[in-house]
Amino acid sequence: MQLLIKNADIVNADSRYTADILCSGDTIARIDRGIVPPAGAEVIDAAGRPVFPGFIDPHTHIYLPFMGTFARDDYETGTKAALVGGTTTIFEMVCPKREMSHAEGFALWRRQAEGKACCDYSFHMGVTRFDAASADQLREIVAAGVSSFKVFLAYKGAFGVDDAELWRTLSLAEELGVVVTAHCENETLVAELQARLLAAGRTGTDAHHDSRPPAVETEGVSHLCSFAGLTGATVYVVHLSCREALEAAVAARERGVRVFVETLIQYLLLDKTWAERPGFEGAKYVMSPPLRDVANQDVLWHALAAGLIQTVATDHAPFDFASQKPLGRTDFTRIPNGIPAIEDRVTLLWTHGVRRGRLTPEQFVAVASTNAARIFGLWPRKGVIQPGGEADLVVWDPEYRGTIAARSQTQAVDYNAFEGMAIEGRPAVVTVRGQVAARDGVFCGTVGRGRFLRRPVGTHPGD
Ligand code: URP
Ligand code: ZN
Ligand code: ZN
Repeated sequence: MQLLIKNADIVNADSRYTADILCSGDTIARIDRGIVPPAGAEVIDAAGRPVFPGFIDPHTHIYLPFMGTFARDDYETGTKAALVGGTTTIFEMVCPKREMSHAEGFALWRRQAEGKACCDYSFHMGVTRFDAASADQLREIVAAGVSSFKVFLAYKGAFGVDDAELWRTLSLAEELGVVVTAHCENETLVAELQARLLAAGRTGTDAHHDSRPPAVETEGVSHLCSFAGLTGATVYVVHLSCREALEAAVAARERGVRVFVETLIQYLLLDKTWAERPGFEGAKYVMSPPLRDVANQDVLWHALAAGLIQTVATDHAPFDFASQKPLGRTDFTRIPNGIPAIEDRVTLLWTHGVRRGRLTPEQFVAVASTNAARIFGLWPRKGVIQPGGEADLVVWDPEYRGTIAARSQTQAVDYNAFEGMAIEGRPAVVTVRGQVAARDGVFCGTVGRGRFLRRPVGTHPGD
């Protein structure tokens, strides 16, 4: 099976030029001008359109047993939604309950994806406890191709690890050369602040922010970086939301700590007033760390352009507004945390990043694809358009104009946090390893074709 994309305006993180792209089977076979279509090849004319490497979402939850319920998407709906929006590879966090072994957790998450995933996928292995059996099991999981861990410094009694477990996880990661991704919020401070707010009668969604203010996140980032500095491990702060936490990460980097930073499309475009909306509407916007004061948005955009933040993810965590968010109707601490975004990350980042002049097209590719590929060991297989790489390509329609609406979305959740927002451009054609998987907002690929990606340890930006 061959696919020829003619007249592509190829945009990589470090280059931009016009050429034809010939894909043969799973990979890019040749990039040149004036390639004559081989007999039987499918030909797509991309004249006037940018063509990007398939976008990578380094932080999603598809199978998520959490806060007394389960996130709504499964691998079929979640990866279809990803593809429609231009994302061709996702990373999911394996989040086993503390009583489950790492081996059982890894096997359970793999079963969720097999036969259902429509795009390629990998996992960050959640280390939700560290006991006598952990090191051996984690070594096996790394050998099976999962070269990153996930720890939660929050969620007391659920996924959260204590400091001894954090130390042991980071020490093992340093020995194995794998990256540790981390949810950074001080769990004791969260628990104490939640109790104080509830005792004062603050039970509504507007209290969520005050239970996890910037200082709680900043302490988490500093804490992680102290442990990373002492163990020598490479760490990756997930879903960083605010200036103070960024300053803590940048200060640690300046002292020599190997720390990467991810922010989310939610923090770039939404602010804490959304979670303060009356009539429980604010529950749609309850996630952790919380949406912040609007002043943080400019800080995050500038940090992306300056290379201080490496990736933009979604932390896709879809809980229905009608039936699941009300678990916390009378107590904000029980609202399932999370905002779905897997479908809209790329189009929103283009619209508010590139179209508004905050990011160049090359920076857009870096933060939405290439940097994740490099940090997590997928580059140059993914994250770049070059011969020998896998043929994950996004032909962009810069003329498209539309509006985000839950009623027309692919992700299986009953609301969209970006409802009514305008989109200026979207994927026209999305390919996964040489096969067209989405066209003009509609999935047209093969259910179950998505492949588990075995990853070696990363080649980090700056190495
Ligand atoms: O609120 C969030 N972020 N929900 C998903 C779980 C997590 O913390 O990543
Ligand atoms: Zn988290
Ligand atoms: Zn998450």
